[in-house]
Amino acid sequence: MAARTVRKAIFPAAGLGTRFLPVTKAQPKEMLPLVDKPTIQYGVEEAIASGIEQVIMVTGGGKRAIVDHFDRSLELEHYLRKRGKDDLLRILAEVDRLSDLVDITYIQQKEPLGLGHAVWTARRLVEGEACAVLLADDVILGGSDPCLKQLIDAHHKTGATILAVRRFPRSQVARYGVVVTDGGAGPLHKVTDMVEKPKPGTEPSDLAILGRYVLTPAVMAELDRSEPGAGSEIQLTDAIKGTLGNHPVVAIEFDGDYYDTGTVPGYLRANLTLAMRREGLREELGPLLRDLLQEWLAAEAARESSNTGL
Ligand code: UTP
Repeated sequence: MAARTVRKAIFPAAGLGTRFLPVTKAQPKEMLPLVDKPTIQYGVEEAIASGIEQVIMVTGGGKRAIVDHFDRSLELEHYLRKRGKDDLLRILAEVDRLSDLVDITYIQQKEPLGLGHAVWTARRLVEGEACAVLLADDVILGGSDPCLKQLIDAHHKTGATILAVRRFPRSQVARYGVVVTDGGAGPLHKVTDMVEKPKPGTEPSDLAILGRYVLTPAVMAELDRSEPGAGSEIQLTDAIKGTLGNHPVVAIEFDGDYYDTGTVPGYLRANLTLAMRREGLREELGPLLRDLLQEWLAAEAARESSNTGL
């Protein structure tokens, strides 16, 4: 039976963002800027470019800024119009256009009980349909097709739950969900087992799950029965694993550049990389980065010579 198209995308955005404290004390980490746009906007743009019709934001306490970001700000528009700031009005209109292209619905996760629980919170809005899940932390740009579209196409082809995966050195996969596959050639692999955040030294493969999924209704049914797993949270990985055997799960090695904005070093790296790829910023930043690099190299050389006693 041909899989039906995927119309809805869940954005779990109710986590506490503790790795970014104190900046996330009073604002959601999904609103932290990647150059000049909040990370969640990149995800919404990707969902729209992938044919999604409804975005379901799962939010928690203190997430008002996300709602406001995708809403019109009449006061700001009025202020800019009065001052003839047409270029800035155009930027606002671009954000405003997103909520014309897709319906944005908000649902509250009352307690941050984990990613699986956040997805389950949206169950009644996706009943009986395959749905997409995007984690705003994982920004994916520049593939042959938008990353989510690659997953949706794979779902149409296989009817399976689809996971976006990327290969990393084994020493680096411990903070991700990791999949074991049948090792087939090409970008699609049949998943045979999954482990959430494996202990260092026990990683079953080098294929880490990143924040893009297409879930079949079987996963929602499994979440209905879920108990807390690693870190006392309801893990999405455990629920997907629970469907293995009865329902196919496929991993796709997607095409595109992955920016991990969920940790402070990753976030800074993503900002620098994207800024250096943007005309108008690169000219300003290039000389600064060159000077900083020279400073760092000189400090490293001094440290090395003091260590070797030269
Ligand atoms: P993370 O673990 O990366 O986010 O969850 P976090 O919990 O906010 O961050 P730290 O670990 O404290 O720094 C992945 C995604 O799942 C959402 C988060 O908002 C993030 O987008 N999430 C997580 C929820 O919506 N609810 C939860 O209970 C947990």
